[in-house]
Parts: sequence; structure tokens; C-alpha cells
Amino acid sequence: MQMQFEVQGMDFNRAGEAAAKIKKALQMVGMEVHTVRRAVIVAYEAELNIVIHARRGTLTAHVYPDRVEIEALDEGPGIPDITLAMQEGYSTAPPHIREMGFGAGMGLPNINRCSDKLQIDSAVNKGTHVKSIIFNQASGE
Ligand SMILES: Nc1ncnc2c1ncn2[C@@H]1O[C@H](COP(=O)(O)OP(=O)(O)O)[C@@H](O)[C@H]1O
Ligand SMILES: [Mg+2]
Repeated sequence: MQMQFEVQGMDFNRAGEAAAKIKKALQMVGMEVHTVRRAVIVAYEAELNIVIHARRGTLTAHVYPDRVEIEALDEGPGIPDITLAMQEGYSTAPPHIREMGFGAGMGLPNINRCSDKLQIDSAVNKGTHVKSIIFNQASGE
């Protein structure tokens, strides 16, 4: 199964809609609760990063029996220093975005924490490609 959503930069009214739809679909096909939780965090943070930082993009979920792949592809400013961007609390979000409660600088660290495999490719003034793989497994708790 594959689902794809268009995401519009600065569209805060619809921010999180794609991640919510992915969540419902993963629950419907019976993915492990722990897998759904991790995939939804990745999808939500990647979706919000397009809304906050990019012009437009797509969020895609590829669902397999053993894993979920979340892919975010955008047209935007790109990330000049990915290592720096991955640090907890690092954010270039301007004050008016922070006043809305976004831009805590925890999105990429959370994506990293929730992913079994993560690849980020970015080109300045072109865009960013985030691909995360989450294997379907119970939490073991
Ligand atoms: N899709 C993107 N396009 C351009 N820059 C991005 C993108 N995603 C993340 N970044 C950059 O990486 C920084 C850290 O991202 P993140 O950890 O999600 O924090 P936040 O979104 O709260 O700023 C952002 O502030 C921004 O500078
Ligand atoms: Mg973010």
C-alpha cells in the first residue's frame, strides 16, 4: 500500500492532516502499536518541516508487512548543514513561527530517534529529501 499527500508551505490550518491519515491507515492494516507511533512521529515532523521551512512538497508512506517507509520530498531552501540541523534544539524558525508553538528544534532529532534507517539529502535553494524506514515490531515492553 502507498499513500501520497501534497503539503503546502505555511499552510498551518492543514498541518498534520497527512500524518493523521497515515496513522488511520496503519492502524487499519494492523501494524503494531509501537510501529504506528514511531511512523506517525516521523510523518508528522517531516510534514511540519515542509509546512514551516519549505515552499511545497509531498509526503509519502509506503506500507509493507515488515516495515513502513516515510518519504518527504520538498522544494525549498534546503539544509546547508545537516549535522547541525540534527542537533536537539537547533532551529532557524523565525519568531512568528515560534509564537505559534512550532520551531522547538526537536523535529529532526525525533525523526532520527524513531527511525531504524534514515537518509537525508538536501541541496541549498533546491530542496530536501528525507527517507525513513521503520520496521514493524512490537515494543517489547
Ligand atoms: N524540509 C526542510 N527544508 C529546509 N530546512 C529544513 C527542513 N527540515 C528541517 N530544516 C532545517 O533544520 C532545522 C531543524 O529542524 P527541526 O529539528 O525539525 O526543528 P524545527 O522544525 O523546530 O526548526 C530547521 O530549523 C531548519 O533550519
Ligand atoms: Mg521541525
